Amino acid sequence: MIICPKCKKELFKVDNTYKCIDHHSYDIAKSGYLNLLLSRFNAGDNKEMLIARDNFLKQDFYLPIAKNILTKIPHDTPLIVDCGCGTGYYTNYLAQNISSIFIGIDISKAAIDFAAKKNKKVLYIVASNSNIPLADLSVDVLLNIFAPYSDSEFTRIISSTGKLITISANAHHLHELKELVYHVPHTNIDKVYFLPSFKMMSEEVLEYTMVLTQNDLLNLFKMTPYYFKTKISDFEKLFTIDKLEVTASFLIREYQKQN
Ligand SMILES: C[S@@+](CC[C@H](N)C(=O)[O-])C[C@H]1O[C@@H](n2cnc3c(N)ncnc32)[C@H](O)[C@@H]1O
Ligand SMILES: [Zn+2]
Repeated sequence: MIICPKCKKELFKVDNTYKCIDHHSYDIAKSGYLNLLLSRFNAGDNKEMLIARDNFLKQDFYLPIAKNILTKIPHDTPLIVDCGCGTGYYTNYLAQNISSIFIGIDISKAAIDFAAKKNKKVLYIVASNSNIPLADLSVDVLLNIFAPYSDSEFTRIISSTGKLITISANAHHLHELKELVYHVPHTNIDKVYFLPSFKMMSEEVLEYTMVLTQNDLLNLFKMTPYYFKTKISDFEKLFTIDKLEVTASFLIREYQKQN
């Protein structure tokens, strides 16, 4: 159930609009998404980042993540929500393989517009993971893939039998790329998520190598936070190589709510 971000009452679809009984109404955009973000500021990934992300992901370098997630979701799951879904790569893959109801949420309007144009089966919503417009206990599987998370919001919306699946970068993810660019490459610090309302049910490392062209490396760099933190002189080192074998290493964790 989708709730109104202003009064928290249920939203009903009436023609091209979602309305609550308090007469707050939200139009469905031309591409099919719903904007429930009350702030008008553009937040989250910008167009340049999401084009780079799409160019990289559409070559299926991260398909093993999507396939792994698929094995963790029962096929009779009623509602699957991807919080911080970006361009909808994982959401769309799962929606093609499972007949559940899917909702993708991201704070970036540009990303949600992009995702909504690709898949009409998923309801894409612009909203923040810290104020999710979904009813209490309504979600059966919640995905959080390289995106900000919220212990309080996630525990509020996940049903008592539901689960949370998180994907994050493992310590030496992309280390060859970092060795190339940085004088002193730093390893990722594996942030064990602060999720006191949940207990971890499983933890798995997914690791493989990818042979990437210069263009793939540029896209990969632009879709990560490194892009903003890197000196131009370091970034330009990417133009010196044609191909690089790079390690992809991810942590896949499943959580259930503490009782
Ligand atoms: C690294 S991207 C990952 C996107 C997607 N899950 C993927 O792996 O392709 C992080 C995403 O989180 C979104 N984001 C950032 N802050 C957010 C928030 N507070 N609530 C929801 N999404 C947010 C960004 O707009 C971006 O699309
Ligand atoms: Zn309302």
